[in-house]
Amino acid sequence: MSSRKFCVGGNWKMNGDQKSIAEICKVLSDAPLDANTEVVIGCPAIYLMFARNLLPCSIGVAGQNSYKVAKGAFTGEISPAMLKDIGADWVILGHSERRAIFNESDELIAEKAEHALSEGLKVIACIGESLEEREAGKTNDVVARQMCAYAKKIKDWTNVVVAYEPVWAIGTGKTATPDQAQEVHAYLRQWLAENISKEVSSSLRIQYGGSVTAANARDLAKKPDIDGFLVGGASLKPEFVDIINARK
Ligand code: PGA
Repeated sequence: MSSRKFCVGGNWKMNGDQKSIAEICKVLSDAPLDANTEVVIGCPAIYLMFARNLLPCSIGVAGQNSYKVAKGAFTGEISPAMLKDIGADWVILGHSERRAIFNESDELIAEKAEHALSEGLKVIACIGESLEEREAGKTNDVVARQMCAYAKKIKDWTNVVVAYEPVWAIGTGKTATPDQAQEVHAYLRQWLAENISKEVSSSLRIQYGGSVTAANARDLAKKPDIDGFLVGGASLKPEFVDIINARK
């Protein structure tokens, strides 16, 4: 196994209320979590402070989006400075739902990542191809294009985790097989070595996301270039504990 610390993110998306969030936080607080796994919870912005206060400090808390500047007339947006102010230390950026539903471009996402990093947040930078792109044999081109956009703005990758999430696997129950995921992760490592540096290629953590469950997490976690998961649906359930402990 590599020296990269396994990192599992929960992405609650636009789900939950005070009652259900308190319940999940209790499950996570009481469970025996693998100390070798870093855990981050992507919580709806309005509940971030609530979740932060309920979770142990060993679990990080992430916004699911943030804007590219610190403050100003941007109705409805939140800034990395605000996330930091309420105790969040991470932000998830470039999720395929932000790209597809809210029309976020590669460039805007990269600008958001640049600003979040400059404010001291850690970033889960998402990428991934659609089914159409995969079937057209364009998976590598698409993830390379998305990585290129990030690389134009990100100069220091220390606080970045990349989440490879094939769009066709998100919320569909159709997980990529461990071999399919490993193939893209290995390609991403090669891309990083050729376009950034060998150091970044070997140290940057790459999560897999898309219908990860307690049933498939262990096999995915055995792959050498899979350094964790970004988990949607299953992160709202007690089985998330088993996903966190996939390497235990
Ligand atoms: P899923 O979502 O686990 O429900 O497929 C993953 C994600 O969107 O990050």
